[in-house]
Amino acid sequence: MTTKTLVVGSTGATGKHVVLQLLQQSQHVHAIACNKQRLLDLLDEIEPKSSSLYAKQLEVTEASILGLTDEDLKKITKDVDAVVSCLGHNISFKGIYGKPRKLVTDASRRLFTAIEANQTENQEKKTKFVLMGTEGVPNPAGGDNPRTRLERSIIFMLRYLIPPHADNESAAEFVHSKRDNPNIEWTVIRPTDLIDGSVTNYELFDKPQGALFGGDDKATRANVAKSMVDMILTDSLWEEWKYKMPYIQDMI
Ligand SMILES: NC(=O)c1ccc[n+]([C@@H]2O[C@H](COP(=O)([O-])OP(=O)(O)OC[C@H]3O[C@@H](n4cnc5c(N)ncnc54)[C@H](OP(=O)(O)O)[C@@H]3O)[C@@H](O)[C@H]2O)c1
Repeated sequence: MTTKTLVVGSTGATGKHVVLQLLQQSQHVHAIACNKQRLLDLLDEIEPKSSSLYAKQLEVTEASILGLTDEDLKKITKDVDAVVSCLGHNISFKGIYGKPRKLVTDASRRLFTAIEANQTENQEKKTKFVLMGTEGVPNPAGGDNPRTRLERSIIFMLRYLIPPHADNESAAEFVHSKRDNPNIEWTVIRPTDLIDGSVTNYELFDKPQGALFGGDDKATRANVAKSMVDMILTDSLWEEWKYKMPYIQDMI
């Protein structure tokens, strides 16, 4: 099976692994990147010469996602089987407190609109939407383990003092609200503390495990990417996790 996946946030610490792992599995990728050469260099850093090795499978639109028009997004999403968002605010004063404050939410909303616009023309097509969140984002459906009073206080402060956290929460809420269109299926992956490292084994759970802060659980970004790629390419895994918000950690 050959699929085509749109990856936004493709130059990020996780997004670059999603792009490369899909290419390594002989899949097609359309990446949106503010700087195409930067993306190619990042891929080559993980696997030398990968940008030329997989050039035929990779299409890059050099743009900032929110700078694209609705028509651009409609064209870009027209023939994709899956969309992965690894967008995140850059860790700088401007990235955290500057605009766009709702980067992840607005991008998700606009991508859904674009996919839906295509579906009015092709009612048969199903699209998988994978959003990267964090374990600090609660499942709007409930069901997460109750947080301690300290954890609840910290999340409350993050929500009001750190705009990217509020953005991740509202993006998850938006995606979670989209169950009305059976042709766009989604999952929101919630990783534990992220670290750099290679692909190993990972575990998925239906809700965050253990303490929110200071626990020993870790997930490599490569494993988070692997979980996304596995879901896109393995229908049984997708069926298990669609319309859910799985928590991921490395297998110990
Ligand atoms: N423990 C956890 O659960 C955990 C930990 C860390 C992160 N996360 C979440 O996971 C997501 C991805 O994290 P990450 O560390 O892989 O991301 P990252 O390395 O910070 O990469 C972020 C991506 O978003 C893009 N981006 C940033 N600002 C943008 C803008 N204004 N317009 C367009 N693109 C923009 C970046 O593009 P450029 O390269 O062009 O800037 C980059 O591709 C984030 O939402 C983050 O909150 C979760």
